[in-house]
Amino acid sequence: MPTVLALETSCDESAAAIVRDQTVLASAVASQVEEHARWGGVVPEIASRRHVEALPQLIAQVCHASGLGPGDLDGIAATAAPGLVGALLVASVTGRTLARLHGKPFLGVHHLEGHLCSVQLGDPLPPGPYLVLLVSGGHTELLRVDGPGVYSRLGRSHDDAAGEAFDKVARLLQLGYPGGPAIEQAAQGGDPGRFVLPKGRVSKPEGGYYPYDFSFSGLKTAMLRQVRALEQLLGSNNLPVADLAASFEQVVVEVLVERSCACAKQQGLETLVLVGGVAANKRLRRLLEERCHRDGLNWRVAPLPYCTDNAAMIGVAAAQRLSAGLQSSMELAVAPRLPLEEASRLYQAQACF
Ligand code: KG4
Ligand code: ZN
Repeated sequence: MPTVLALETSCDESAAAIVRDQTVLASAVASQVEEHARWGGVVPEIASRRHVEALPQLIAQVCHASGLGPGDLDGIAATAAPGLVGALLVASVTGRTLARLHGKPFLGVHHLEGHLCSVQLGDPLPPGPYLVLLVSGGHTELLRVDGPGVYSRLGRSHDDAAGEAFDKVARLLQLGYPGGPAIEQAAQGGDPGRFVLPKGRVSKPEGGYYPYDFSFSGLKTAMLRQVRALEQLLGSNNLPVADLAASFEQVVVEVLVERSCACAKQQGLETLVLVGGVAANKRLRRLLEERCHRDGLNWRVAPLPYCTDNAAMIGVAAAQRLSAGLQSSMELAVAPRLPLEEASRLYQAQACF
């Protein structure tokens, strides 16, 4: 049961955690959301600076809360890919320096492997392979998991990620950043059936559609057209924001749930897992539970505090790799775009980048 200090700074949350296997001993997150909200999205330069300021305090905080120090640790982990390069560097340099100073193994973790592992912080998973719907600000993917580190991608978005679509539509409706929680709140009491919106499909060159892929750009354009038409009709101060937000949220959730359940059934997988920032959405959690129940699928979702970015999920992924006898090179740098299928490259004796 390895005990790991994990650091996460890949985007706009600075985070540190100490986990023992799949148990969180301490976890702390410093969000920069308010600062980026002024600009309507993440400003990379500001993100890096805030990580530099926040990370030392967060590390001190989790050591104090858990009552553990460097001598109690079996490894030190940091997110190494993917993400904003300047932001990733903060946790990477900090983690490698601490590992070298204290003579501990260093583990460079793939951020999406962290999201996949976040479900292990909840109820135990049933045995066997399973399908994961990973929905965050940067990714919308359907991944088959056949064991730790054994992933195959069965579906993906060809344009915006689901979280990105929430963020852009929230900006259109002037609801603020991040868009997901803002749309969820605005949609309360709204009529999800009032506006008919497209369930974007991705065409195959030879005809037909990719059944498990996603496209949210047409939906975004349809929302823009709808809003402009309503502004002409009612004036920009009288938009039916609750109905617009609810209709948008409903169509995104339906698309995600329908394609995930169909994919699980086609693959003969009995368990469907939901992770990533958008997994915090209550309508999505509710509909997925209903459909899985109807289709006889097991379902698991990451606990709410571990859906959006955090370091505990990075620690679980690192503890799993460490238990398998793996560690990263102390020279490992960061990679802004490494695909999840290549996560094992992070544990080669010679740094791969
Ligand atoms: O996983 P995450 O924290 O960061 C990335 O790795 O991208 O996901 C952030 C995304 C944002 O786009 C945010 O709008 C979305 O997750 N999100 C939500 C909700 N909470 C966060 N989307 C829908 N409903 C929510 N309640
Ligand atoms: Zn994330």
